Amino acid sequence: MIVIYPGSFDPVTKGHMDIIERVSKKFEKVIVAVLVNSEKKTLFTLEEREKILENEIKSYGLSNVEVERFDGLLVDFAREHNSNIVVRGLRAISDYEYELQIAHINSDLYNELETIFLVAKAEYSYISSSVVKEIASYNGDISSFVSKNVEKEIKKKQD
Ligand code: COA
Repeated sequence: MIVIYPGSFDPVTKGHMDIIERVSKKFEKVIVAVLVNSEKKTLFTLEEREKILENEIKSYGLSNVEVERFDGLLVDFAREHNSNIVVRGLRAISDYEYELQIAHINSDLYNELETIFLVAKAEYSYISSSVVKEIASYNGDISSFVSKNVEKEIKKKQD
């Protein structure tokens, strides 16, 4: 069974990696789908976001996880990749409303598609990529939230 984990990953955090690692143990293959046309203005280019993710996945030793970019509808990407399972992480109740809306829309567009939610680990339940970037912009310590490599990549952007 192939499962898709979509997002903008600008950049990937330990919270995302926790979800990826856990889901990789339950499914044959995980495709981390990196959003091409995010409405968000990203710090990292698409290529950089992909490369950083690939390095993280390698360092976690997850051999059944692939990174692919996607544009357009998530349901079309899922169909093209013979998958009918999307995974999302739930950090707090505030994520729920938004996630429920996306899950319902995706299920309307592709009936067989199931969205499964993993509860984020408590220590990552209050972080997001934006929060990490904001702390870094004030030279705060982000080492609990991202890997050394991601920290380095963020610092490079600040130079
Ligand atoms: N740990 C840490 N952070 C997490 C997290 C976790 N477990 N789960 C989510 N986040 C954070 C992300 O870092 C991100 O933070 P940011 O806003 O500061 O960048 C935020 O939560 C949510 O972003 P993300 O998971 O990247 O999702 P998104 O809201 O940008 O995009 C998609 C969601 C990709 C699923 C959705 O936009 C999509 O499918 N788009 C394609 C178009 C489509 O099909 N539309 C129809 C359905 S609406």
